[in-house]
Parts: sequence; structure tokens; C-alpha cells
Amino acid sequence: MKALILAGGKGTRLRPITFSMAKQLVPVANKPVLFYGLEAIAEAGIREVGIIVGDTASEIQHAVGDGSRWGVQVTYIPQPEPLGLAHAVLTAEPYLGTTPFVMYLGDNLVTSGVRPLVEAFQAHKPNALILLAEVPNPQEFGVAQLQGERVVRLVEKPKDPPSNLALVGVYLFDHHIFEAARAIKPSWRGELEITDAIQYLIDQGYTVESRQISGWWKDTGNLEALLEANRLVLEEMPPSQHGTLVESQLYGRVAIGEGTQLIRCTVRGPAIIGHNCHLEDCYIGPFTSIGDGTVLKQCEIEYSIVLEGSRVEEIGTRIEGSLLGKNVSVRGVARRPRTLRLMLGDSSSVEIPT
Ligand code: G1P
Repeated sequence: MKALILAGGKGTRLRPITFSMAKQLVPVANKPVLFYGLEAIAEAGIREVGIIVGDTASEIQHAVGDGSRWGVQVTYIPQPEPLGLAHAVLTAEPYLGTTPFVMYLGDNLVTSGVRPLVEAFQAHKPNALILLAEVPNPQEFGVAQLQGERVVRLVEKPKDPPSNLALVGVYLFDHHIFEAARAIKPSWRGELEITDAIQYLIDQGYTVESRQISGWWKDTGNLEALLEANRLVLEEMPPSQHGTLVESQLYGRVAIGEGTQLIRCTVRGPAIIGHNCHLEDCYIGPFTSIGDGTVLKQCEIEYSIVLEGSRVEEIGTRIEGSLLGKNVSVRGVARRPRTLRLMLGDSSSVEIPT
């Protein structure tokens, strides 16, 4: 069994963060999303991992390296253009050959791991095994229609979803998927959809099994899902304290990295604060991840993700449900007139209470 991780794509729904960063490297609980997938694959006993890369190839390669950190051997497979998941599969055909494989979307987070799926695939030997999850917004995903346990129909982003069962970004295939990917035509969004390729397998009488997910699943492709993924990972995080506390209180599960100083702060977990941060007169609320080297003074932050090197100072209103990129500065200034001064990158979004 091999693994194919998809780490191309443009990440348009996470702009402006993804103008300067691969969406698969955006951190959840201070760890790139992609690393959770690599861990799950290594845990399932898979050693050979192909990673499909696009425009952000060098950044992904720099972060992942040769895979030895996870005990796997990584091969990078460039996809010249992001023409769809089934196109990515075809691009990887020379690497995969006739070996069955797990395909894992690099921006997906699955808690139940990959091992039970690999075991089921090896035991029943279907041509494909897909993973499904009940979602409130099926029109944003590939959706499956079942008859008993049998998958009868799959539709990508349906306006009128036949069920609330979304296709999770973890799939197992044998080599027949290449035949399917070659047979289908691009969809309305100009992509070769993996959903259509699996429908082809069904139509041709190949066996397609499905499993419903046991834990939780998040596609971290937009801000709400990313914050929720962060919350869910933090809920399971063990506490650890390596920083220096001065007149500060920690409540619940809190992780603080080495070289970090908290002066007159209150942190209510679950929350993580990285290495070499300086926090003064702050409140950090539940489900917050603060990246390395950040400086926070006289501010309150909750249910948010702040990336490394950012500064937040003297903000009179609590920051909530926010994502701040690297080296961002948000500063309160006691100036008259009380105006907003903004320097925002393309596709930034700001909400101000009125
Ligand atoms: C892709 C698939 C979709 C699947 C989703 C899971 O969507 O096309 O079927 O449900 O991943 O994350 P995309 O992220 O390309 O919109």
C-alpha cells in the first residue's frame, strides 16, 4: 500500500493567508494541517508517500523534507496545473503503478486515523473504499447516495443534495481508478473530479465500499472550518508548561512553549502558546493558538489562530473568531480623531462592530 497526499491547489478560500503560504501548511494548534495527515499515514504502517505539489512545491518540500521525521519515504510529484483530484491521480500513475493506495487531501483533518480503513481495504479488497461524514452543508462537498450500505450515486457540489453524507478527503483505490480518471470529462468547474471517477467505477460494476466516519472530520479550506479544526484538536491536546509565568494564571489545558513569558496574563484553555512569545496584560481564551515569536500586550484573544511573529497591542475590544497571518501588526492608538487606519493585503477581511 502506498499513500498519495494532495498538496497542490490555490487555497482561494483562505486568502490573503494563502497568497504567501500553502493552505496545507496553515497551522492547527501550532502544527501544519499537512503534518496530521502524514502522522495518520505513518501510523497506518504506510512507508511510501507520494506528495502532489503545485505552485507551492518548494514551501511544502522545505516543511516536509524526505519524510524521515515520520519514518516514511516521500516522493514529490509536480502537477503542472491544478486540474482536479482525478487529474492528480493520473499525474501520480507512474509513481503508484499497480499498488493500491490511500489518497489523502492535504487540507483535511480526520481524527479516527487511516489504519481502520487500510485494514478494511486489505480484508475485503474492493476496488475503492470511500469515507463519508454527515454534514449540515452537503452542497459544498461531494455527496453520496446510499441504498442500504451500497453507494449508488455520487455528485460533486450538488445544488439539491441527495443526502447529507459528504465525501471525506480520504479515499482508498486500486489501479482501476486510472481507467476511471481517463474515462471522465472535466466538470463545470473545469476539473477532473474524483467523485465522477468513482461514479464511473460504480457504473462499470466495480466494487465501491463506503464507511461512515467514527470521529470528526474537517476540510480546513475556509476560515470557519479552520477555527473549528483548531478547537477540536485543542480539545484533545495534553497540557505542557515550559514558559515563565509572572503574576499569571492558567486554567484548564494550556500548552506553553520554551522561552515564552507571560506577565499579568490569564489563559483559559484549551489553548496553545508557542515558543519565544511575550505576553503582557493579556487574556487568552479557549480554543486559541498563538504561534512562535508573537508579542501580545493589553489585549484579549479568544477562539482564534495567530501565526508566528505577529504583534497585537492595546486593543480595547476582544478579538474573536480571527485568523492573523505571519508578522501581522494590530495596534490600538490613543489618537484624535478616532479613525481607523488600515493597510490590508488583497482579499483581506475585517469586521468592525457598529
Ligand atoms: C474536494 C472533493 C469533494 C470532497 C472534498 C473534501 O472538494 O472534490 O468531493 O467532499 O474535497 O474535502 P474541494 O476541496 O476540491 O472543493
